[in-house]
Amino acid sequence: MTDTRADTRADALTWGRHYVAVEPTHFRVEYAINPFMDPAVQPDPALAMQQWRTLVETLRGLGAHVDVLPQRPDAPDMVYAMNLGLGVVRPDGGRHVVMSHMRYPQRRMETASAQAWFAEHGWSTSQVGRDGVGAHLEAGDAFAWRGDLVVGYGPRTEELALKHLATDLGVRMHGLRITHPGMYHLDLAFCPLDERRALICPEAFDDASAAALLELVPEPLVLTEAEALTTFAANSVVVGRTVVMPDCPDHVRAQLESWGFEVVVLDLGEFHKGGGSIRCLTNPVDLTLGRDLVVQDTPTVVLPPV
Ligand code: ARG
Repeated sequence: MTDTRADTRADALTWGRHYVAVEPTHFRVEYAINPFMDPAVQPDPALAMQQWRTLVETLRGLGAHVDVLPQRPDAPDMVYAMNLGLGVVRPDGGRHVVMSHMRYPQRRMETASAQAWFAEHGWSTSQVGRDGVGAHLEAGDAFAWRGDLVVGYGPRTEELALKHLATDLGVRMHGLRITHPGMYHLDLAFCPLDERRALICPEAFDDASAAALLELVPEPLVLTEAEALTTFAANSVVVGRTVVMPDCPDHVRAQLESWGFEVVVLDLGEFHKGGGSIRCLTNPVDLTLGRDLVVQDTPTVVLPPV
């Protein structure tokens, strides 16, 4: 179908004004399911809480709404709320969330609690798999981008989940094959900034998927592998024209400011010990079908060549 948006415009993102987050009352590094985690290096609970509160206050100060879920005591990674599920607002205003089906059993109990929370708060819910049966889907791998969903698969989300998700939501989906063990979710290597621009770390992907992603983004701001891994710069959140980042390399700041963005840098260092940062801690639940995602008669999955 034809994209009617003028190519010279760079409209601000329409989503990213309503988040869910999980208060880190039981955050710790109990196991190692990504290369950043080392149970010998524990976060300081008070400092983590302070960093998290500053993040939530910052988002609220920018006009975003933040709903807070309680953390299950037995789910130390639940603070990374992005992975609980992918929420959308339907054209009739109804809210629906496709729950994640976590790759690692250590995190699977999180979604049971989150599903109950969403249901209590008026959301309908669905699943692409659960309890280890069916496709794995982790919502940190999914973004709305120029009317379609872009979903990373490989380390966490499985290719099969893409078809379920496209059908469930009735959208077109672009799959990207992630090959870098340190960028195990798409949100560690990709961050939409507005309708034309995004932060991208091509090293996260195989060649075909890196090329496919660069093709989808008219004005990419490219991060090096070292920048993505050491600064978590791609794991940022955008509210209108403000980019809330855990760190911002000089060339990134210069480019963002020349594009008219304001950069806010917040220290989320305690959460880097678990392998996540700002985007992982916040889950935008205002992606709207018919506005941010084009509703397709025939949902399709576009995969990169093998
Ligand atoms: N320890 C968590 C895990 O490995 C970190 C999740 C990071 N979240 C994200 N959206 N990238 O699952």
